[in-house]
Amino acid sequence: MTTTETAGAILTIDLDVIKSNYKRLCQELNGTPCAAVVKADGYGLGVEPVAKALWDAGARTFFIAQIDEGIELRQILPDADIHVLVGFLHDSDAAYADYNLIPVLNTLDQIKRWNNRARCDLHVDTGMTRLGLSLDEVNQLPAGLGFDVLMTHLACADEKDHPLTHQQIRDFRQVREQISYKRASLSNSAGIFTGPEAHFDLGRPGCALYGINPTPHLPNPMGNPVRLQAKVLQVHEIDSQTSVGYGATHALKAGQQLATLALGYADGYLRSLSSKGVVYIGDQPAPVVGRVSMDVTSIDVTGLDCVEGQLVDVIGPHNPPDQLADKAGTIGYEILTSLGGRYMRVYRSG
Ligand SMILES: Cc1ncc(COP(=O)(O)O)c(C=O)c1O
Repeated sequence: MTTTETAGAILTIDLDVIKSNYKRLCQELNGTPCAAVVKADGYGLGVEPVAKALWDAGARTFFIAQIDEGIELRQILPDADIHVLVGFLHDSDAAYADYNLIPVLNTLDQIKRWNNRARCDLHVDTGMTRLGLSLDEVNQLPAGLGFDVLMTHLACADEKDHPLTHQQIRDFRQVREQISYKRASLSNSAGIFTGPEAHFDLGRPGCALYGINPTPHLPNPMGNPVRLQAKVLQVHEIDSQTSVGYGATHALKAGQQLATLALGYADGYLRSLSSKGVVYIGDQPAPVVGRVSMDVTSIDVTGLDCVEGQLVDVIGPHNPPDQLADKAGTIGYEILTSLGGRYMRVYRSG
């Protein structure tokens, strides 16, 4: 059991921010119901506290990727509707029945094997070419089938006015005419912000719940629930020319001051942040110098007040996940889902 004294870094998740993000998405959907995507351990933030918070905020329909995630979520939320995106895998009959899970059927074979035995969804591929029935296969569907959620997934919703988004909405409208279903669902987080024509009957956001900007071309309408603080292990006064870290990639001059932090790529602080990342001491930026290694990362604290044992902000108000992602050459989703297992995790609520 890690404590503030023994932990190298502390990850604090504000569940109230996640709840208010859910409510903000409901507001944007303007009366259209809103599901919650909590796959990959609630986008790295911890599926149990996150799913419970979303339930408290009013979410009743949940999407996860894997069957095992569905089994885990069933113990957390006994009364939720749990939809499983990977679909009806071979020999998964008992898991679906025992845990009352709803498969998102992706292929004609899955539809045949499921054989209308219980509630199920249908995923139609309108342009992602990842999972789901092609538009041609929709024409081959046997008569008499009914689905709970009829869904498709947008490939480019985060790019303003992308032609593929408009095409996918048109194709999905057409598909709805051919299939019997209860709720049509197209919008991920970014889709919700493209406007009412993308809303249909059910929103399906993930990343925006966790503070990732669903409108990258505009200021972020969501709150950031994540704060990651790393401990200073050692402070170095540099008194002659030298270098720091593996590969000696970063030269140091006399007079510089360095601090070594207790987090590295094993904690999800990506190696691509080597000499690129920035952490904050209060509201003062301190750049990462040299290569991020497995357990430690060095920062330049010249001119800043910095002492052994102090906590610095790796993710926080000045450096939210999207900003870190930009510096690492990735997306906020990867920053969150890479958050490591060694952190002391603190959940705030109320
Ligand atoms: C099928 C499906 N629907 C919804 C989502 C949620 O997307 P986002 O996190 O962009 O809101 C995902 C996420 O990858 C997905 O795969």
